[in-house]
Amino acid sequence: MENKKFYITTPIYYPSDKLHIGHTYCTVATDTLARYHRLRGEDVMFLTGTDEHGQKIEDKAREAGVTPKEFVDRIVEGSGGVLDLWKLMNISNDRFIRTTDGYHVQSVQRIFKRMHDNGDIYKGTYKGKYCKPCESFWTESQLADGKCPDCGRAVTDAEEEAYFFRLSKYADRIRDLLENTDFLEPRSRVNEMVKNFIDPGLEDLCVSRTSFSWGIPVDFDPGHVVYVWVDALSNYITALGYENDRYDDYGKGWWPGVNIVGKEIVRFHSIIWPAMLMSLGEPLPKKVFGHGWLLLDGGKMSKSKGNVVDPYILAEKFGVDALRFFLMRTFPFGSDGSFSNELLIQTINTDLANDLGNLVSRTTAMTGKYFGGHLPAGCRDWASPEPWDTDLRNTVAALRDAYERDMESFAPHKALEDVFKVIQRANKYIDENAPWKLSKDMEANGGRLAHVLYTLLEVTRICGVLLTPFMPESMNKLFVQIGASSGCQTWDSAAQWGVLPEGAAVNKGENLFPRVDTAKALEELEAAAEAAREAVVRPNIEIEPQLTEKVDFDTFCKSDFRVVKVKACDAVKKSAKLLRFTLDDGTGVDRQILSGIHQWYEPEDLVGKTLVAIVNLPPRKMMGLESNGMLISAVHTEKGEEALHLLMLDDAIPAGAKLC
Ligand code: MSP
Repeated sequence: MENKKFYITTPIYYPSDKLHIGHTYCTVATDTLARYHRLRGEDVMFLTGTDEHGQKIEDKAREAGVTPKEFVDRIVEGSGGVLDLWKLMNISNDRFIRTTDGYHVQSVQRIFKRMHDNGDIYKGTYKGKYCKPCESFWTESQLADGKCPDCGRAVTDAEEEAYFFRLSKYADRIRDLLENTDFLEPRSRVNEMVKNFIDPGLEDLCVSRTSFSWGIPVDFDPGHVVYVWVDALSNYITALGYENDRYDDYGKGWWPGVNIVGKEIVRFHSIIWPAMLMSLGEPLPKKVFGHGWLLLDGGKMSKSKGNVVDPYILAEKFGVDALRFFLMRTFPFGSDGSFSNELLIQTINTDLANDLGNLVSRTTAMTGKYFGGHLPAGCRDWASPEPWDTDLRNTVAALRDAYERDMESFAPHKALEDVFKVIQRANKYIDENAPWKLSKDMEANGGRLAHVLYTLLEVTRICGVLLTPFMPESMNKLFVQIGASSGCQTWDSAAQWGVLPEGAAVNKGENLFPRVDTAKALEELEAAAEAAREAVVRPNIEIEPQLTEKVDFDTFCKSDFRVVKVKACDAVKKSAKLLRFTLDDGTGVDRQILSGIHQWYEPEDLVGKTLVAIVNLPPRKMMGLESNGMLISAVHTEKGEEALHLLMLDDAIPAGAKLC
């Protein structure tokens, strides 16, 4: 029989800036769910990617002086970019889509044409409000205090010829989908959508733009580019091969899949996306789950506010798995949560170092110390169980089902709560049995001690299996330490007792989750955050602002700029800065100019160069020498230091030529 197919996606990210811990949260959560389904033995397809079109990207690229494609390439593929971050975070996506990929572009053109041909897209005039950062159109009634209801920023008036999608036609079907099915979760998001968007009446949606060009062209009407959300939402099916030849997985049991998205984009996924699919006659997603935000200082993280947390710094400091775990353990998946370094360190110390770390290290150390790393035959069973044996066994026996219910209802935080209750129970079991006392008389108590340790190893194994989707690397190490081979790591085995062989080789290896020194770590993180803030305030390259005061043309013409050739150049004695230039200025009489640029140039390197000087400044004395004019240079600040470049011209230009 074929395995069950499971298709899960994250939103595709805007590569307009480096990704932060909020983006990481969403992708780690989706990765955890994907790994959970793989653990169950399902065939999983996990998709993520980047959403690369739109005016925001076009503007940013212009500011950076590169093409939009060069701009996004750098953020997606460059060092420290999106791909690097997902690799670091051990994200197990099967596919990565970029909306600039040729096959996607072709599919979107076909999707747009199909909706046009079936009458759902028509031409009209767009009049309304546009939020540039969010790439969202709004009607007057949707604005919050005249501002964008998503980000609170100012909106602009917009009017242009545009194509419209007949969203209004699908209003009743969307209402039914939201209210009468569990298509959208958590339920609270349904109420938000119905109240804010469906009840006031769904209006047709503007789905093309003519005011910028960085988008997918409407192939039957050049000059229009496809609205970025129609382009982006289509990715979930184009990545499977819908309307393209790049992949052949559409219609093969993957779609419909599950779309995991952040709460501010639920509107697009639960209204526009199903309406597009209805128009195309394709199945709707199985589920859209809208998770909450990670907040910092009470607000949403954003690069422009300068309040982002860098996942690279945290992963390097605490380890990738500790960071993954923290994100899933601490914040209920459907709600907002406040990020803080204190909370992160506290979670690592309490759950990982104390509870899980201690259970593993005490159990493996005692198995090594009392039994040389191999428990004796017969340790699996104990004829007259103590009440705490029964209690622990019952707790573990209920674990996998509870965990499964939680994971199936998109509550990974609850699944972890279940696992950690068992881990805490197991630590208590160590104290209840006091193995160190049992070990004093091995002849009398050796059998009981072996059974206690076997029980602890089994509990650790089962918890390890269920923690694998959250901390894959560390659980692999844990399995080596407790001697659990692949057969002891399966989903089925997590519901069975006594799977670990009695004589399995147990080794106390490295400490999986070292304790964090809170004060020291907080200090280091604060220093790193300060450096990052400074980098925002003081970017690597600064140029002086342009003067706003105007000079009239005649005044400007009074400055006499000439081409000069360097005949000789030497350092002025007793001056660290000054160079003395002997220049040919075309008059036949040498001109002497002093310039404070020794820091940037060696005199011998300048002889023979063709430079520019202003020659009608009044003479000036420096270090007892006269300077007649000034050499022209370009200056800027780089990494806080002044940089200077003499203006050098083509040597073919004769000395004395006037610049005008
Ligand atoms: N490009 C669109 C998605 C198109 S999907 C067809 C987009 N991109 S985004 O890069 O701005 O955001 C991607 C995801 O990151 C969104 O789901 C968003 O909610 C999530 N997050 C961004 N900041 C976040 C937090 N601070 N906390 C949690 N998730 C957040 O939207």
